[in-house]
Amino acid sequence: MLKKNIGMNTICTHTGAVEDVVFGGAVSPIYMSTSYDFIDKSPKRYPRYFNTPNQELLAKKIAALEAAEAGLIFSSGMAAISNVMLMALKSGDHAVIQNDIYGGTRNFIESHFRSYGIDYSFTKDLTSKAFKDCLKTNTKLIYIETPSNPMLKLVDIFAIAKLGKSKGILTAIDNTFATPVIQKPITLGIDIVIHSATKYFGGHSDITAGAVVSSQKIVDNLWDLAKDFGGNLSDFSVWMLERSMKTLVIRVKAQQKNAKKLASFLEKHPAVAAVYYPGLKSHPNHDLAKTQMRGYGAMLSFELYENYPVLSFLNSLNLIKPSMSLAGVESTMIMPSKTSHALLSKTDLKAQGISDQLIRFSVGIESKKDLIYDIEQALNVCKK
Ligand SMILES: Cc1ncc(COP(=O)(O)O)c(C=O)c1O
Repeated sequence: MLKKNIGMNTICTHTGAVEDVVFGGAVSPIYMSTSYDFIDKSPKRYPRYFNTPNQELLAKKIAALEAAEAGLIFSSGMAAISNVMLMALKSGDHAVIQNDIYGGTRNFIESHFRSYGIDYSFTKDLTSKAFKDCLKTNTKLIYIETPSNPMLKLVDIFAIAKLGKSKGILTAIDNTFATPVIQKPITLGIDIVIHSATKYFGGHSDITAGAVVSSQKIVDNLWDLAKDFGGNLSDFSVWMLERSMKTLVIRVKAQQKNAKKLASFLEKHPAVAAVYYPGLKSHPNHDLAKTQMRGYGAMLSFELYENYPVLSFLNSLNLIKPSMSLAGVESTMIMPSKTSHALLSKTDLKAQGISDQLIRFSVGIESKKDLIYDIEQALNVCKK
């Protein structure tokens, strides 16, 4: 029996492991069965009901890491996000949403909310007062993403949770960039925490998954919708994710240590016009970061001056991969205007500050000096 307040690394390694009662193996067996005995059995198990042994136990691990009561594992981050939004919002309802969010989330809202009869307001001003000013009598959800993708903007999590509670409105956060290693929004009063588990939870760029944690009551409501939409993750991927999450804390800590060094290096570099990283004193929300984050994460963005063409820079990298997605142990860089946010209009891109000179840098675990060397040599090659 483990003591009550166990550490994050212990949760990662042990909580939610499936015990191998037959052979006593040290790692979880995989239950790939899609067919379970139903006679006198409760619950009735079926993968789309999110209740196979591997699914249930991994949800416990993620809930424990986020200090939540319960959770569900989805087939992708977008499956998690869309299920949460459609659980919280019905025809005639209104949502207040942070303007700076992952492009896919924004595309989901802009492409589908109106056809479901759901109204929404994006707020560019990220103060809690601005969120409050957007509220309507029919507002049922406040949705934030902090740090945001790709500009690393921050929202005061505690203030948003307080606003939601004072008005009886559900609050949800996309905690993908931070992970529970860096911030635990449930402890600050947020109702629902969402992850693209494709990112740090998976950590090796080989799993697409999503996760939602919250109170048991909210997770039960979510389950009611999710089992009908059918966005569960296959048990093999669930098993891979449980294995990957054993190293979550040590990976994120190593990546963020590198990111802090790389952000300072880039900020001083003459080719770099701006660096966006909450750990830098120059970041407008650096003080807020110190209060709500433990560390500053491993994602940063930077802008090159015009005489360093971005595509040519990315093509000249030898070690850092110019590839989509983020948060793997290997460093990657992308142009958000051509990838994660490509579906946004020119006006929206401008409003979020996403220029064609902007590069999003997902810092990996490689040796810091090798990353710096790679950036230096690529800048030398691409300079006009
Ligand atoms: C912050 C954030 N949230 C959600 C998603 C969507 O996750 P997925 O690609 O797993 O559906 C992404 C994907 O890049 C993301 O960066």
